[in-house]
Amino acid sequence: MSSPISIAILGAGIFARIAHLPAIRELGDVYQLKAIYSRSKSSATELAKTAETSLALPEASLAIYYDLGGQDGNLEALLARQDIQAVIIALPITSQPAIVVQCLEAGKHVISEKPVAPTVKDGIKLINTYESVYKPRGLVWRVAENFEAEPGLQAAGKAIAEQKIGKVCFWNYQVLNNVNTDGMWYKTPWRTVPDYQGGFLLDGGVHSAAALRTVLPSPLQQLSGLASLNREHLAPHDTIHTLIRSKDGSHGLFELSFGLPSSAGGGDSFRVVGTEGILLITKFNKPGEKEGESTQYIKVQITSAKDGSTEEIIEKTCGVKQELSSFAAHVRGQDDGLGKPLRALQDVAVIQAALNSNGSVVDLTKLIEESQ
Ligand SMILES: *[C@@H]1O[C@H](CO)[C@@H](O)[C@H](O)[C@H]1NC(C)=O
Repeated sequence: MSSPISIAILGAGIFARIAHLPAIRELGDVYQLKAIYSRSKSSATELAKTAETSLALPEASLAIYYDLGGQDGNLEALLARQDIQAVIIALPITSQPAIVVQCLEAGKHVISEKPVAPTVKDGIKLINTYESVYKPRGLVWRVAENFEAEPGLQAAGKAIAEQKIGKVCFWNYQVLNNVNTDGMWYKTPWRTVPDYQGGFLLDGGVHSAAALRTVLPSPLQQLSGLASLNREHLAPHDTIHTLIRSKDGSHGLFELSFGLPSSAGGGDSFRVVGTEGILLITKFNKPGEKEGESTQYIKVQITSAKDGSTEEIIEKTCGVKQELSSFAAHVRGQDDGLGKPLRALQDVAVIQAALNSNGSVVDLTKLIEESQ
């Protein structure tokens, strides 16, 4: 057994608390959490306390760092620590790229939350910097895209690649959400008034774009879309409708909204139609062990056109655990290809194209090439 990778979490928001911490706990001695950084002292302290309880660490054993923390207690001080090998970055979208570079410059391996950057152009710049300066130094940088790592979505992609539904003809992916002003995500200040394109459509939408590339066998090539704002509090946009063509000529509809008037009637459904069958991906929740807790599952249903028989695959969602496990393996020299920044860039391209298309056809490869 190799010794645990010593890490720090940068960012003390909701996702660090409800997703990264539980994943670190479940991974046992893969990681050793040593420090927390947040912009404010209060949030760093709060996450450190939660982490100490969750990971059964002694009280006040985690070091906290924050802005205005003086010479001893800011991000630079954290990054100067030789005993921290890697960082998990879960900070506001527009502040991440500069901090990714700062962490790499300090010699840390990095896994940073999606989106890879707020725009395709920023993403390419960051990827080029990593490839030319930091990768040659042996540093690992990954983008945390948990959808790409979901066993349920991977199983769907594998079934399609194995021709279980024959050749893919067309598909339809509908993701309908309701975000109210009292929702926990909306109340994050940087999400309430976003300083990046698309608001929730970028922040949450890149996950759906990642689901598309994980499940479909051929890369997305062209997109035409319309974007709109239907609920004032979600400005600049809350809904996109897109028509997409893949390189192999198959096509589909991708519909994404955060602007439903209520959560009733919303949901998530992805149907892929092939020459020999249909594959349907849905999600469902089961009540957890504790009151008020629930566990999410992904269900893949494959129906054969020949005899109507169905095969079902059900996987518990655990993408964050999977992506952190994969990152650790990569730090130790085993690259399974998950979390590639260039793939996460394609997700930003899909959303950016949908936001700007206004009905015109956008070539996704060109969008990336022309942003160089
Ligand atoms: C989008 O296209 C419509 C119809 O051609 C046009 O009226 C509108 O001004 C365009 N919007 C933007 C933001 O370019």
